[in-house]
Amino acid sequence: MGRRPFIIDCDTGTDDAIAIAAALYCDQVEVKAVTSVNGNVAHKYTSKNNLDLLEYLGFDDIPVAKGADSPIMDNPYHSDGTHGNTGLGNIKLPDAAHKQFDKRLASELIYQTAVEEKGELELLVIGPMTNIAICLMEHPDLKDLVKHIWFMGGSVIGGNVTTTAEFNIWIDPMAAHIVTQSGIPQTMVGLDVTTAAAMKEHHAEELRACGTKAALLCADLLDYMFERRDRGGEDAIMHDAMAFAAAVCPECLECRDFYVDVECFGQYTKGHTMVDRRGRLGKAPNVSVALKVDEEKFCSWLVNAIKKSADR
Ligand code: RIB
Ligand code: CA
Repeated sequence: MGRRPFIIDCDTGTDDAIAIAAALYCDQVEVKAVTSVNGNVAHKYTSKNNLDLLEYLGFDDIPVAKGADSPIMDNPYHSDGTHGNTGLGNIKLPDAAHKQFDKRLASELIYQTAVEEKGELELLVIGPMTNIAICLMEHPDLKDLVKHIWFMGGSVIGGNVTTTAEFNIWIDPMAAHIVTQSGIPQTMVGLDVTTAAAMKEHHAEELRACGTKAALLCADLLDYMFERRDRGGEDAIMHDAMAFAAAVCPECLECRDFYVDVECFGQYTKGHTMVDRRGRLGKAPNVSVALKVDEEKFCSWLVNAIKKSADR
């Protein structure tokens, strides 16, 4: 079986960068493009981070495209400094010297690739879903061309922006509503599982011992996250890499199918992912929802995925 074609749509971001590294060196998938969206930081940074990252790691042949710089309904909003001022914590990658952005915007690149891949394309969506929703609105037949969407977002219970909403969904709930209702097979990796696994210092030490550019960069990103944790900030949680693990390491997670929709307008509940666990609505399940994670299995999978950079 050939490599599975993927596009990564992201708001790079510290954990996005680690997820991208894990995907780039994974022998099960072929990353066909990386597209950016407003999210963790302003789109001018998320897009530049993708371009700099792929040139830095030597993937000049993978198209990098710009996407939406604001949500469908709302004004742009960015995280509270969790990812530093420009999105990669305290790490400054060299400015891309020769790699250029693809001339197409994210939605066009996603659609054209989906057509080229004849229904085999999978999407790793690890930021607000604006680009995917725009693509669906511009090209309704996308729903028949995407094999699976693996997204980091939402939660069965709880939130990290409000008590009921997770950041990626809260930034653009209308986009998430459009995507979850699209009929495209999809898997939701939400806070219920991502916050149940945190990287530790020994994982960073293992990556440093590997010594590749990707491993050292991910170790530096983890060190930034450890400092953030010790200052009372978010732990070294690999939200986005866990969405990729759902695609290529299914044994890391336990998932169940439920009907899911998104609250778009609630004064207190905007961005809440309604997971109908009791089947009260009588609607057919549309999302496979990750409910449990094997923390040790996931963390060691991620370290090994990044260490595959030594094979390149
Ligand atoms: O809530 C966590 C999500 O928001 C992650 O994707 C992180 O990168 C931010 O985008
Ligand atoms: Ca992200």
